[in-house]
Amino acid sequence: MENTFLEQVKKGDRFEFGANWKSFLDSINEHRINNAVESLDAMLGEKNYTGLTFLDIGSGSGLFSLAARKLGFKVYSFDFDKQSVACTKKLKELYFKEDNNWIIEEGSALDVEYIRNLGTFDVVYSWGVLHHTGQMWKALDNADLPVKENGKLFIAIYNDQHLKSKIWLTVKQIYNANMIGRLLVKSFFISFFTLGYFIRDITRLKNPLSRYREYKQQRGMALYTDLIDWIGGLPFEVASPAAIFNFYTEKNYILQKLVTTNHYGCNQFVFKKNFLNSKHTLQ
Ligand SMILES: C[S@@+](CC[C@H](N)C(=O)[O-])C[C@H]1O[C@@H](n2cnc3c(N)ncnc32)[C@H](O)[C@@H]1O
Repeated sequence: MENTFLEQVKKGDRFEFGANWKSFLDSINEHRINNAVESLDAMLGEKNYTGLTFLDIGSGSGLFSLAARKLGFKVYSFDFDKQSVACTKKLKELYFKEDNNWIIEEGSALDVEYIRNLGTFDVVYSWGVLHHTGQMWKALDNADLPVKENGKLFIAIYNDQHLKSKIWLTVKQIYNANMIGRLLVKSFFISFFTLGYFIRDITRLKNPLSRYREYKQQRGMALYTDLIDWIGGLPFEVASPAAIFNFYTEKNYILQKLVTTNHYGCNQFVFKKNFLNSKHTLQ
């Protein structure tokens, strides 16, 4: 049986994502929302979204549920963390108050019964979530359940960096162990990243502040919030692009869009379900 959220946090097995999203919420503005809308549209590539259904598994701040609603989807959002649910509800309150086409609740990507009861959706979106469930392959399996025939599955999963991923797992475990660990990891890595970025930009004659602006333009997110999410984000699992490709190809999906990284961070995949196509396998 899955431990409750609070038990996992208490044991040092889980990062409180929602608390991090809470501090991001104040910086959400039209500019960030537009960036989120554009990035979602660019990956899904449909001509018209009006009336299509969108399931956001692990909605976090709620920014992408909001972006989907702005595109015209009917949105269903859920998250395992009460504070993430509250953030998503706050965004709805601000931008789509009393809207019947956006439902938000608490739920888990690991709860098969819960997911089965949601029905099926034109798009199932789970960005940076399934690797934080503690049972990534089960969560990846469950994410297939609510995808309609010919519907799309848009997921982002941490890249497998082998030894480096194992080291990052240890860093995250130290972060979540107690307050001292959190303080140590935070002060070391935030200085490490901030200084590293600064030196890299200066030596390339680039304005060090432009990195923060450019980051915002990608998905509307904030670099600092994402850094905290990265150094603290536990549970933590990783997969290579090939492993994810093969997993969903076996389930008769076809890959429509792929954005990979050769670094830390996520590989992004947009799959289409039940595309009657011969199976491919990547090594
Ligand atoms: C890194 S955030 C990503 C949020 C959002 N999808 C985005 O793209 O900004 C990961 C989110 O997954 C949620 N999460 C973790 N385990 C989950 C589970 N078992 N079921 C649903 N959500 C979960 C966390 O609470 C957190 O809000």
